[in-house]
Formats: sequence, structure tokens, C-alpha cells
Amino acid sequence: MKLGVASAVLATTARSIAQSPATSAIHSLPALPYAASDLAPHIDVETMNIHHGKHHAAYIAKLNEALATQSDLAKLSLDALQGQIHSINDPATQAALRNNGGGHWNHSFFWSIMTPAKDAGKPSEKLAAAINEAFGSIEKFQAAFAEAAMKRFGSGWAWLIIQNGKLKITSTPNQDNPMMKGIVSDAELGKPLLGLDVWEHAYYLHYQNRRADYITAWWNVVNWNAVNALLST
Ligand SMILES: [Fe+2]
Repeated sequence: MKLGVASAVLATTARSIAQSPATSAIHSLPALPYAASDLAPHIDVETMNIHHGKHHAAYIAKLNEALATQSDLAKLSLDALQGQIHSINDPATQAALRNNGGGHWNHSFFWSIMTPAKDAGKPSEKLAAAINEAFGSIEKFQAAFAEAAMKRFGSGWAWLIIQNGKLKITSTPNQDNPMMKGIVSDAELGKPLLGLDVWEHAYYLHYQNRRADYITAWWNVVNWNAVNALLST
């Protein structure tokens, strides 16, 4: 099965999906690939525990509930599901899959592209070259990414995607993501390489209203080795 993602977290999730009968609770909460306390002080342990154990878990429970009446979609991998949500005609079911299927994918991805600061690594030569070509420099890229994250009004995500072989920064509301063909605009479709959760639940306990400080700190725990691998797969 082609996963389209390189992280162990998502691979584990996808395997569990593939091996589970479509009629049971097929999506399950992936374990964090590090201890919840390992991203501190940049992301505090209480935020991580609630974000992963409560928020992410709730998206999965509601996704499974929505898939209970969708036997065809229930057979899909989490990756493949993102591109099929638009095909659901019933508005309430589509909204449930969009919010919770997106929530599950986005958070699984988010955990996988972070790591303890000591293991953060750096952009590979290939990634650095692509960033320089698209944005001029790493610093300009980070500034543009932070701007997208700051400008996202309310809840949503900032993304670095690869689209037609080039890097691009996008932003989506709520739990939408760049894999949701037919839901996000074509200009925002692509393969995510980085995603930053700017819902208040991602930072409010520690940073309160200081989203800019959260974004600045987050760069310390970006898993560049995972991003490098995503670019190469
Ligand atoms: Fe979140």
C-alpha cells in the first residue's frame, strides 16, 4: 500500500486501518513517537497530554462514528479518505468526515513532524535548495510560514506543501488540509511537508493569546529529518 507519508506514526496508523474490519472502530489513536514531556519547554506536557489524549482522541471517536454508515469509505486508508470526503452528498455526514477525518489526519501528521529539540536536525541539502528556490532563504521561508500561521483567523493550520514539484505555503481553516481534493481550492492542494496547528487548544495553556510566541518556539521542535524524508518519498 502506498502511504504517501513517511512517518512511523502514520505508517502504524495505516497498517492498523488496513488490518481492521471495516465494521469495527477502524481508526485508533496513534502513540506519540516521543514522551509527552519531551517537547518542553517549547510545548508543555499538559498541552501535549490534552491535545493528544483528549482532542485527537475525540476526532477519532467521531470519525469512527461517522464511518459506521459509510462502508466504502471505511475501507479506505486515512490518506485516501482525505481525497474522497467531497464525494459524500449528505451535508451532515460530509461535515462529520471533513472535521474528524481531517482532525485525525492532521494531528497524526503533526505529531510525526515534531521531535525533541535535541533531535531536530536540519533541512537536507535537497530541502534547503527547494526552500531557497521558492522563498529566497530559510529565514524568509520561516517568516512567510509564520505570517500564514498568524493570519489564519480563528482555528486552522499553516502548511508547507509540495505542489507540482515546487514548495508552497498555504493555510486552511478548521481541520481542512491540502489533501482534501474538492473541498480546499485547487491552489491549496498538495502533499504536506510541514503543518502547524494554530487552534488555541494547541498553545493556550502555556502561551495564552501569544500565538506568535508559540510559532517561534515551535521551530525548535520541528523534525527536519521527517520533513527531509517526506520530500524524498
Ligand atoms: Fe489540534
